[in-house]
Amino acid sequence: MSLQQIIAPSVLNADFLELGKGLKAIENGGAGLVHLDIMDGHFVPNVSFGPGVSKCIGKGTSLPLDCHLMISNPEQYVEEFAKAGAAYISVHAETTNHLDRLLHQIRELGCKPAVALNPATPLESILHVLDIVDMVLIMSVNPGFGGQKLIPYTLEKIRRLRALCPEKDIQIDGGVNLETIRMAKDAGANIFVVGSAIFCTSNPEETCKQFVMKVSG
Ligand code: DX5
Ligand code: ZN
Repeated sequence: MSLQQIIAPSVLNADFLELGKGLKAIENGGAGLVHLDIMDGHFVPNVSFGPGVSKCIGKGTSLPLDCHLMISNPEQYVEEFAKAGAAYISVHAETTNHLDRLLHQIRELGCKPAVALNPATPLESILHVLDIVDMVLIMSVNPGFGGQKLIPYTLEKIRRLRALCPEKDIQIDGGVNLETIRMAKDAGANIFVVGSAIFCTSNPEETCKQFVMKVSG
């Protein structure tokens, strides 16, 4: 079975005054998910938005919501994000003592559970939950901000993970642009979070189409 290649634009650096336009642009641009970077200013040194804004975004697009929880105590919020309409909920292995229980809880809420790892966190910390998740999110930058440079050693993590699970969705998040996406795909990622390289351009729709072309075929 060949895995779908999906572009998941992150709205983190989108123009929130024109977010409806931005969502239409990525829909028309062939995106497969909309990536919502949820930040609490505690697990990461930045604050973004929560379940309320996520719900509004969900009303403004037909794209499934891919909620990336970069927050402490995610157990307290997964139900809110499920109610907000999340299709995927990614939680960081670094943010919970009870990862197995939390991932089962996400599935019981009717969402697709995913586990995320910061660059320096070894794959070994998630080997036991690979069968519980629908996706693994490999951070290719230190979380908190868009517009950073991809950290090269994270590609090796993706390569190793792909060898362990040939059929699993592997998402790369951070520093993906029209140059680095080739390396990310060659390493084995099949879902590509792209933030500033789409939303900080003059034509996000056309740029998104270029990313889709890069990973198709
Ligand atoms: C970091 C965020 C970013 C964002 C993508 O915490 O998770 O990785 O999604 O940002 P770009 O594509 O601008 O690096
Ligand atoms: Zn993210």
